[in-house]
Amino acid sequence: MASAAAWVTGMAAQLAITVPGQAQPPADPSADPGAKKAFIDDLISRMTVDEKVGQLRLISIGPEMPIAQLEDEIAAGRIGASFNTVVRRDNRPLQEAAVKRSRLKIPLFFAYDIVHGHRTAFPIPLGLASSFDMAAIERMARVSALEACADGVDMTFAPMVDIGHDPRWGRVSEGFGEDPYLASECARASVHGFQGSGVNRPDTIMAAVKHFALYGAVEGGRDYNTVDMSPLRMHQVYLPPYRAAIDAGAGGVMVALNSINGVPATANTWLLQDLLRKQWGFRGITISDHGAITELMKHGVARDAREAAKLAIKAGIDLSMADKVYLAELPGLVASGEITMAELDARVREVLGVKYDLGLFADPFLRMGSPADDPVDDKADNRLHRRPAREVARETIVLLGNRNRTLPLKKAGTILLTGPLAESGLDILGSWSAQAVAKLAVTLRAGIETAVEGKARVLTARGCNITDNPKVVDYLNYLNWDTPEVVQDPRAPEVMIAEAVELAAQADVVIAAVGETRGMSHESSSRVDIDLPGSQRALLKALKATGKPLVVVLMNGRPLAIDWEKDNADALLETWYTGTEGGNAIADVLFGDHNPSAKLPISFPRSVGQIPIYYNHLRIGRPLTEGKPGNYTSQYFEEQNGPLYPFGFGLSYSRFSLSSLKLSASRISYGQSLTAEATLTNEGPYEGANVVQLYISESYASVARPVKELKGFQKVTLKPGESRVVRFEIGEEQLKFVNAELREVVESGQFSVQLGLDSHEVLEQSFELAEALEHADQNQKSPG
Ligand code: NOJ
Repeated sequence: MASAAAWVTGMAAQLAITVPGQAQPPADPSADPGAKKAFIDDLISRMTVDEKVGQLRLISIGPEMPIAQLEDEIAAGRIGASFNTVVRRDNRPLQEAAVKRSRLKIPLFFAYDIVHGHRTAFPIPLGLASSFDMAAIERMARVSALEACADGVDMTFAPMVDIGHDPRWGRVSEGFGEDPYLASECARASVHGFQGSGVNRPDTIMAAVKHFALYGAVEGGRDYNTVDMSPLRMHQVYLPPYRAAIDAGAGGVMVALNSINGVPATANTWLLQDLLRKQWGFRGITISDHGAITELMKHGVARDAREAAKLAIKAGIDLSMADKVYLAELPGLVASGEITMAELDARVREVLGVKYDLGLFADPFLRMGSPADDPVDDKADNRLHRRPAREVARETIVLLGNRNRTLPLKKAGTILLTGPLAESGLDILGSWSAQAVAKLAVTLRAGIETAVEGKARVLTARGCNITDNPKVVDYLNYLNWDTPEVVQDPRAPEVMIAEAVELAAQADVVIAAVGETRGMSHESSSRVDIDLPGSQRALLKALKATGKPLVVVLMNGRPLAIDWEKDNADALLETWYTGTEGGNAIADVLFGDHNPSAKLPISFPRSVGQIPIYYNHLRIGRPLTEGKPGNYTSQYFEEQNGPLYPFGFGLSYSRFSLSSLKLSASRISYGQSLTAEATLTNEGPYEGANVVQLYISESYASVARPVKELKGFQKVTLKPGESRVVRFEIGEEQLKFVNAELREVVESGQFSVQLGLDSHEVLEQSFELAEALEHADQNQKSPG
């Protein structure tokens, strides 16, 4: 057995030593693709079965395995990668165990959930999508990558691109909303930001898009539940964002925990082989989600651990996350011939390939650098990127209502700040806030106090707790490992409300920060109601009764049923969770230092009974017509139909108008395109941005089509009084869809083109597309 490469660590860590018998990997893996194959072939030819199986294991530090044991396991060649170790000082000994003590000295890679920032929390993805600003999303990912690299992390489990139609599901907060076009754009921007110009650089990380696939469609919004979906809907709505991330170059795919039409994603050969690898041409690593291979037994598709391992590896799971069954079962399965060496090698090849692409064979310490450069204090404030965090956060805040120009507020007089989220540094970070630290976060109170310092007086009162249900508090506190998530004020709700009301009497305006704790919109946090929990609405009602202008600042990770707030708040801001600089960003909007321009990436229902509600639903035979009796039409009879706030909705402090929609042609043939243009005017007194949205619908086709679909958007900044003509090109890309045979087609017919500042209020023109029926794409999609 030839000896393998050894690597110098410490100060000279950047140098790889060539050892006879092993090819030297180039610093730029993309330079010579043949060299990668030769390098990996050579390595695989020298690996034992146990070493191969070891490469397929991704282990988390923590309760699962203490660090000393982890090092020994790595040295024994039983671990291929680690996650949740995020400090160079922790990662370095692990990498040293791999490249100094293991027989083949294959480096590890280090992964982590960097979903919306690393040391600095940016807004949650639902907020990022609200920005409709892809440069902002790319910036978030770029900064995250820089901070992750500074901690020796090589890969992120992001972007999370699961389409969400059900706000009961706590994980809608982690995704980019309900629309496949917007989510795909966000996915692309994220991957570009994380991966930069290549993943072999010391300042970029690899993106592993998740959760493949359809996790956002869990029945009833109950986490980990079943997904059962038509192939048409899959291909038209749910799959495009994953595809977009992969086409943008994402090197990894995390596989979903749910089953798809009866077959768990982790054991789904159609999903992982036919669709992902053969049809989409994905060349990278697939990673099972936490414990998902073992869960194949719970799903009831594997008799025992042996069968679970066999199903997963045959389906195409390369790396097993926090699972013991590969280690325990694969050697026996190979020995018995149930898994061929070629099948095992195929999976190992992907893991080694990712390490190669990440530049780790050339330098295992590429992102870790040398100990001399380790930060003295990992959590130091000067490691944060506050400016980009604040600038991005301001772009994500949606103005839902503003009566009598309540906002922007004057920096004068007396302000009462109340509500259970007003002083929370933890909640404002949002869930999956990686290494962001609550005490470094700018709370809403801190943001407001800084903004008005020396100009206005700020009074504060708790107002109420987030919930009055002790069981919910226990549940939320159980989610966190170190500190309690929810600290309750022991006073009775009436006492806290009375205190706030009393202080309101002294104030010129009341700001109430209400919503959910971050843990309420998280993994495993599905809700049966989507209203404001506990006494929060009672607090708002009492404040409203004082007659003082009431500004409601929402912090939440899902659409909430806020009909009362819509009708009664003088101003209503959806801030989601805005991250480390959240308090400053919200204050910028409250006091007019930033004019809000964000738009909802997901429809807000009036009540939980309307779920699922999404703007791009299919046409039906008996639609309700607004203003006409609803009998024998598709509707709910007890309340107003349609969303409380539609997709794409969001106001500005300025008045914007969109006018003069023109199409460049009223009839085109297949292969031709046309332009749609309209004039956007800022008629108000403030400079500001607005998002012009292009929707298209076809009046009839071979299958029922959505009533409208977003096909483009442009965010335009205008000075007061300024106008600009906004143009969109419409061609095959915007007109194609998936037909009943699962082919992408463009069909002739009548198309409506709609431009609007939200999905509901639009200008509309139509055109005819002639002679297109025969233009079906030859690349048929796979039915699942
Ligand atoms: C389980 C979650 O579903 C997934 O999103 C996450 O990346 C992994 N745990 C690792 O933390």
